[in-house]
Amino acid sequence: MEDNKLVYLLNKMTLDEKIAQLLQLATPFFKGAKDQGEITGPMQSLNISEEIVENSGSVLGASGASEIKSIQKAHLETNRLGIPLLFMSDVVHGYETIFPVPLAIGCSWDLELAEESSKIAAIEAAVSGIHVTFAPMVDLVRDPRWGRVMESTGEDPYLNSEFARAFVRGFQGKDLRSETERVAACVKHFAAYGAAEGGRDYNTVDLSERELRENYLPAYKAALDEGCEMVMTAFNTVFGVPATGNKKLMRQMLRDEMQFNGVLISDWGAVKEMIPHGVAENEKEAALKAITAGVDIEMMTATYVHHLKELVQEGKMNESLIDEAVLRILILKEKLGLFENPYRGADEEREKEVIMSESHRAVARELATKSAVLLKNDNVLPLQSDQKIALIGPFGESGDILGPWSWKGSKQAAVTLKQGMLSQIKEEQLLLSKGSDVETITDEQLTEAKKIGEASDVIVLALGEHSDMSGEAGCRADIRLPKAQLKLLSHMKELQKPIVVVLFNGRPLDLHGVVDEADAVLEAWFPGTEGGSAIADLLFGEVNPSGRLSMSFPYSVGQIPVYYNHFNTGRPKGAVDAQERYVSQYLDIPNAPRFPFGYGMSYTHFAYSEPKLSCHTLTADSPITITVTVRNTGDRAGEEVVQLYVRDWSGEVVRPLKELKGFSKIALEAGESKEVTFTLSEDQLRYYDTDLSYASDAGSFTAFVGSNSRDVVGVTFTLE
Ligand code: NOJ
Repeated sequence: MEDNKLVYLLNKMTLDEKIAQLLQLATPFFKGAKDQGEITGPMQSLNISEEIVENSGSVLGASGASEIKSIQKAHLETNRLGIPLLFMSDVVHGYETIFPVPLAIGCSWDLELAEESSKIAAIEAAVSGIHVTFAPMVDLVRDPRWGRVMESTGEDPYLNSEFARAFVRGFQGKDLRSETERVAACVKHFAAYGAAEGGRDYNTVDLSERELRENYLPAYKAALDEGCEMVMTAFNTVFGVPATGNKKLMRQMLRDEMQFNGVLISDWGAVKEMIPHGVAENEKEAALKAITAGVDIEMMTATYVHHLKELVQEGKMNESLIDEAVLRILILKEKLGLFENPYRGADEEREKEVIMSESHRAVARELATKSAVLLKNDNVLPLQSDQKIALIGPFGESGDILGPWSWKGSKQAAVTLKQGMLSQIKEEQLLLSKGSDVETITDEQLTEAKKIGEASDVIVLALGEHSDMSGEAGCRADIRLPKAQLKLLSHMKELQKPIVVVLFNGRPLDLHGVVDEADAVLEAWFPGTEGGSAIADLLFGEVNPSGRLSMSFPYSVGQIPVYYNHFNTGRPKGAVDAQERYVSQYLDIPNAPRFPFGYGMSYTHFAYSEPKLSCHTLTADSPITITVTVRNTGDRAGEEVVQLYVRDWSGEVVRPLKELKGFSKIALEAGESKEVTFTLSEDQLRYYDTDLSYASDAGSFTAFVGSNSRDVVGVTFTLE
């Protein structure tokens, strides 16, 4: 169908039909639904008629080719104009083959594998009948108390933007109409959901426009530049107005400036939530604000179907607002080819062939090895294959390693750490004991764990957070490991055996009681379906760790937010002429995070040459290059993430100490050297100045190259 045919269709729709098209309902509302699907928000009676359901436009959370075909079939039998439903679900880091959580993927700094993972997620989702995924989530995050940091790729606008693009490419492919085994992507949550005050979910966000534009908007924009079809609103306020009713944010910034013409969907219940937010007295006012702001689909509340008609009849809004929203939805349906083939990729045979296929699992394993970050290693890793190993802790035999947003993933099908280790060593070498549960410990557990620990050469402690401790509504004020596990660790320490801690969790933790006590710490995150195999690959040195943190690990909660690209202040700590007291610091803890952005160890070592500039002057039409030679000085092959940061020494507004401008992940054999060259041009030095114009300043800059945001060497140049 061409666009004018869609307009023709639109013109045939009654006002009621058009308004119902804007409603998205969860699966249980539909005829033909067999199970209740994915429920991620409050379910309530929406007080809507059968007719409204029959004319609604999209379904949330259904899955499975047979289920989706049956809902679509029943719908087409009752929908007067035969307009097919759109099926949308949260396929965030895999469908059934679960990849590491996005924060972990961020730590891989591997854009190709990230793209591959979302391609696989799209294939599995599409053959199961899904048309749109509510991903990627690209909210910039600086507060690890917020449970949803695990959904983001981290704290840096540039790195997040690169991943946003990679995920969109993977989900959507090149042409959604012909590639029926890809899905449309929906970037979320527009905007700045990651800046919730105090790291408490759904909480207020209050940012300056400069800060919003500079750090928070780039990743959404990158997703849109890559052709992302949809956008989801955030629950939070932006400039004092909930995003879902925020005209400046949606009409001006998203639609006009970013030129987004696709479908904008509210988050679950977010239209009605404008009432408790306190910007709408009732549902009718909430509906008016959302449609005026340009929200096309209302997810799981019914203010549009209850009030838009009345608002039009009363002359409070123009019907054209409804028409433009409906048209956008019809265009998306058309792009997905649904008018010709309402079942699209849904195919029971293909489901059997591709879901959790060996090749999909192999990519999950590879990505999990690349996402884990080695935080500490005092010569204990890799483990030796002839050692007697005690595997102790609540995650040793747990399948709860998929993480939040893995509703289709099976914990039973996940490879546990025990299984992974047993595929590399003999059974008699592995001694097992649970040691504690995630949040509780008994004397018997402790006694048994000590016995096992005593009998071993090395203790591997599998510790962490269960998956409900992060994710949506999974915020924590104390982000240490639960006390039970710290107690287990301190008792194990008494045995004076080497201790390797493997962490399974969804956020940067306060690692008091862990880092100093353990001899090695490997951050595995929630590594997904192949987690156990991947972590065993790393522990035994089959694969050399190469993950680098994409979010800082705080020293303790009192430092939060702590992120690498902060400002210097007028009284920076450590300045040559600084006094002891009157500087920007805490009296009781360091300023620096426990582990900085970009940090991660390897089983080998890399030496950097002094970075060399092609020229010390950069102008608008002559970029410069920065070249460094990196050498693997150890005795095994490894991968290094070479990172480029820039500091602008004097701007119209204050500039960060460092900003990531480029990176290159390189593989080096033992003894091998490689030259890495970055190009830097004037547009990469721009920022939003006092009047919010986007420009660069002539003057001095330093380009830093190194293996993380802390350990770098700089060379200075001038922008003319
Ligand atoms: C609420 C979450 O905030 C959002 O990320 C998700 O896509 C929707 N629920 C739908 O499940």
